[in-house]
Amino acid sequence: MKLPSPPRPFRRPPPRPGEEQRRNGRNGRNGAGGAPTTTKPTTKDQAVEGVASVVGWLDERTGASPFLRGFLYRKVPKGTNWYYTLGSATMFAFLSQAVTGVFLAMYYEPDPSRAYESASRITNQVFLGEFVRGMHKWGSSVMIILIFLHMGRTFFFGAYKYPRELNWIIGVVLVVLTLLMGLTGYLLPFDQRSFWATVVAVNLNASGPIVGPYLADFLRVGSEFGPTTISRFYALHMLLVPGLIAALIGAHLYLVAKLGTTAPPWLRAEKKDLLREEV
Ligand code: HEM
Repeated sequence: MKLPSPPRPFRRPPPRPGEEQRRNGRNGRNGAGGAPTTTKPTTKDQAVEGVASVVGWLDERTGASPFLRGFLYRKVPKGTNWYYTLGSATMFAFLSQAVTGVFLAMYYEPDPSRAYESASRITNQVFLGEFVRGMHKWGSSVMIILIFLHMGRTFFFGAYKYPRELNWIIGVVLVVLTLLMGLTGYLLPFDQRSFWATVVAVNLNASGPIVGPYLADFLRVGSEFGPTTISRFYALHMLLVPGLIAALIGAHLYLVAKLGTTAPPWLRAEKKDLLREEV
């Protein structure tokens, strides 16, 4: 299927015949009888030209534009509606968590004797700290709600069926990792509630069959909560799990772009009816 090729946005079009003359006055001269002049580029022209040359430089070396064109101008089925935005909404919730998390990490100290103070310092003393911490806290719930809504959409629209099973499996791993972000983040404020809630959650893990006790020991760094437990949770929360999520989102989006999106089931049903009538 041939995609329509969009206009190349970063190249200034060549002047149309006579345009240069019109700009310079009649007969290519400015006013009556002076030497031909060239138009002086405005600051805006120079800015556009500057951006175009940087983008052109990058494109020449990466060959990214055919990929971007294919990705951004791909066709979507008829009947696509607001429910199809839930995947992108989940992705933006993740990006918001990543950005706010970076700012929190600049002030947070993952040490049992410093964690509580550093978290309350973020809320009470750091500029916009309460706002950023609030965004991160509520953003985690938003991401979990969105990911389940997106999962529900793909389930009820039958998007998990052939050939998208692998994308569904990647999605299931993304749900588990997102919940793991919630679990590992909950301990970090290190107040009474976060500490005891995490003790209960890890003990629940420990009661799981076969791998449960090992998993709990891994999370606690031993059979009891100790001084290094918080570092383990912090490393999982800000390095390992978000890294895995980012990589899996990349794979997930690659498959969405490659396989295309599923049409809504009611449109597919209509088509089947039509086919049945024709046969
Ligand atoms: C961090 C989490 C996730 C992100 C950022 C994400 C992102 C996206 C995006 C942007 C799309 C294309 C637009 C759309 O259909 O909404 C998509 C499609 C899809 N996602 Fe996700 N997703 C995530 C989690 C999940 C989960 C948990 C599942 C299921 C277990 C899942 C299964 C699918 C499937 C099967 C499709 C193809 C939909 C179709 O063909 O109509 N995704 N995802």
